[in-house]
Amino acid sequence: MPYATLLFEVRDAVAFVTINRPEKLNALNAAVMEELGEVAARIHKEPGIRGALLTGTGPKAFVAGADIGELAAQGPVDGKARALEGQRVFRSLEQCGKPVIAAVNGFALGGGCELAMACHLRVASEQARFGQPEVKLGIGPGYGGTVRLPRLVGRGRALELLLTGQMIDAQEALRIGLVNRVVPADRLMSESEQLLRSMLENGPLALRACLEAVDAALDVGMDQALLLEANLFGLLSGTADMREGTAAFAEKRKPRFQGA
Ligand code: COA
Repeated sequence: MPYATLLFEVRDAVAFVTINRPEKLNALNAAVMEELGEVAARIHKEPGIRGALLTGTGPKAFVAGADIGELAAQGPVDGKARALEGQRVFRSLEQCGKPVIAAVNGFALGGGCELAMACHLRVASEQARFGQPEVKLGIGPGYGGTVRLPRLVGRGRALELLLTGQMIDAQEALRIGLVNRVVPADRLMSESEQLLRSMLENGPLALRACLEAVDAALDVGMDQALLLEANLFGLLSGTADMREGTAAFAEKRKPRFQGA
């Protein structure tokens, strides 16, 4: 299915999603958000997709934020609706049950940084820049920045980025834990894909359980989180994949997981 604002293709079970408005540094307007929501649903639903890689077109930007032209025209009611809808779209990506990696090729600002944070891992090119500059526009983050940033980098570092609105480079993002890896720009896609494919060698149900457990563990108390982990552990113990994984280990061969 062709999209107006995204490039989308599936190659060997990986969905490659590219936000494609380079003339506006891939800013997230309503059309991009709608199509991102559709793509998140496809990643979740389609069995032929086992993981996804998200990036932006062009050498300059991953995503330079929400579309400021649209923001400028909004009032409090549609502003709140925009934030809720964006949060829903990013959350659906975060909860799609399959690993999603942001390959951050340039500016990841405002909604772009928030989108990268809603992905499960972030690989940054040496040229990437991160920031939450909303306060410079007299607004605050609306797509989860005040929620995910402190969870990733801690309260103090999150507040520094949120309150100054200043940009940091890829090495600083690595130092504070905002990104998982920094790679040269010409190796961004290949290294991100390799990282994703190394995950996809593992049992898909096990991957989904890890994603679900970690997502929930950050929101509930210790005992509930441990109980969920034990429940998922029990559930996985009834799968053909667990039998295959343990048999393959005993037989000193590579497992062939079926996701069942
Ligand atoms: N929304 C809408 N348009 C945007 C945009 C955004 N978030 N970010 C960039 N653009 C547009 C610019 O308006 C410009 O369009 P034009 O050529 O029609 O004027 C085009 O993208 C190129 O951007 P430009 O500012 O000329 O590039 P630059 O290299 O000089 O600066 C940035 C790059 C990222 C530093 C700068 O574009 C910027 O600060 N963008 C806004 C970042 C932001 O505040 N994001 C959070 C929004 S809540």
